[in-house]
Amino acid sequence: DSVERGEFRHYMLKEIHEQPRAIADTLEGRISAGRLLEASLGHEAGAVLDQVRRITIVACGTSYHAGMVARYWFEGIAGVPCSVEVASEFRYREPIPEDGNLLVLMSQSGETADTLAALREARRTGFADYTLAICNVPESSLVRETDLVLMTRAGPEIGVASTKAFTTQLVSLLLLVIAVGRRHRLAHSGQEESIVAALKQLPGQVERAVELNSQIEVMAGHFAEKRHALFLGRGPHFPVAMEGALKLKEISYIHAEAYPAGELKHGPLALVDSEMPVITVAPNDSLLEKLKSNLQEVRARGGELFVFAGKGIHMDNGDHVLELDAVDAVTSPILYTVPLQLLAYHVAVLKGTDVDQPRNLAKSVTVE
Ligand code: G6P
Repeated sequence: DSVERGEFRHYMLKEIHEQPRAIADTLEGRISAGRLLEASLGHEAGAVLDQVRRITIVACGTSYHAGMVARYWFEGIAGVPCSVEVASEFRYREPIPEDGNLLVLMSQSGETADTLAALREARRTGFADYTLAICNVPESSLVRETDLVLMTRAGPEIGVASTKAFTTQLVSLLLLVIAVGRRHRLAHSGQEESIVAALKQLPGQVERAVELNSQIEVMAGHFAEKRHALFLGRGPHFPVAMEGALKLKEISYIHAEAYPAGELKHGPLALVDSEMPVITVAPNDSLLEKLKSNLQEVRARGGELFVFAGKGIHMDNGDHVLELDAVDAVTSPILYTVPLQLLAYHVAVLKGTDVDQPRNLAKSVTVE
C-alpha cells in the first residue's frame, strides 16, 4: 500500500486520528482575519454566488449525511432554501427547475456513478443554473465536470467507512454557507466572524474528542453482543446520528437505525427494551430540554442509554455518559461525529470484522 498505516492497527483508526490535521488543511488559505477569503473558491465564484437563490445538494452514503447537516446551516445561517437528496433517487425524478438554483454534488471519490449521473441529468434538463463539487480527489470526473469546485483536503482515504472525508466535507460546506450567506441573511447577522472563529478552534476540539478513545473503547464493550442499536439526535445532530448508525452497520454488521428523537413516539419506541442500546447525541443546545424528555421515554421502557453530552449536562445515574468539550452551536455537529466514529470502530474490532474492507461494500461505487 502506498499510504502507510504507521502505528495504527487499521486505516480507519488512522484516518479518525488525522481529522484535526485534515480540518486545518481544509481551512488553510481560505479564512483570514475572521473572514472567508472568497477568492479561494475560484475566480468565477463571486459572479456565480451573486446569482444563487437556493441550494440543492445531491450525494450518496456518508456524503449525503454531510448534505443533510448543511441543510440546517443553509437555511438557519445563510437564510437560503436548501433541499438534499440521495443521487439514486434524484436522477430518476423529474425535479422542477428553479432560477438561481446551485446544485452541490458531494463526493469523497468524485467517481460515484449515481452522483455523476445526477449531475449529467441535471445538466440535460436545465435543473440547476450552476453546479459545484465538494470532493476529495482533484483529478476525479466530478471535479472535471462541475462549474465550481471546493476541494476537501482530507488526503487519501483508504478505509471503506468514510471518516475524515465527512468532517472535511462539513467544514467545506460551512465555508460555502458563509459565501452564500454573505449575499443573504449573514450580511446582516454579523455571524461570519463567530463562525470563522469556531472553525479555527475545531482542530483542537476534535483532537480532544479523539483522546476519548479509551473511554469509548470501554463503552463499545456493551455493544458487541447486541443485534440492534438506535441512534437519536435532534436538529443538525439528527444527521450526525444517521452517520453514526451508518458507521456501525457498515463495519460491525449490527443493525442500526437513526431517528430524530422527537419521532421516537411514532414507532421506534415499540422496539425499546433492555436489549436495545440507544445512542444519543446531546449537545447543550436549544433542543436539549426536548431531547431530555425524549430520553425519559426510553428509560421508562428499560432502554439502556449511551449519551454523548455537552459539558455539565445532567443525565440519569443509570446512563452511560461521555462528556465533550463545550463547542459553538454551529460547529457542534462536526465535533459530535468523532466519538460515533470511534464507537463504531471499537465495536467492529471487538466483533473481529474486517474493519477497513467490510463485506459487500466498496470504497467507491462506480456502477449503478
Ligand atoms: C460508498 C462508500 C461510502 C461512501 C459512498 C459515497 O458507499 O462505501 O463510504 O460514503 O460510497 O461515496 P462518495 O465517494 O461519492 O462520497
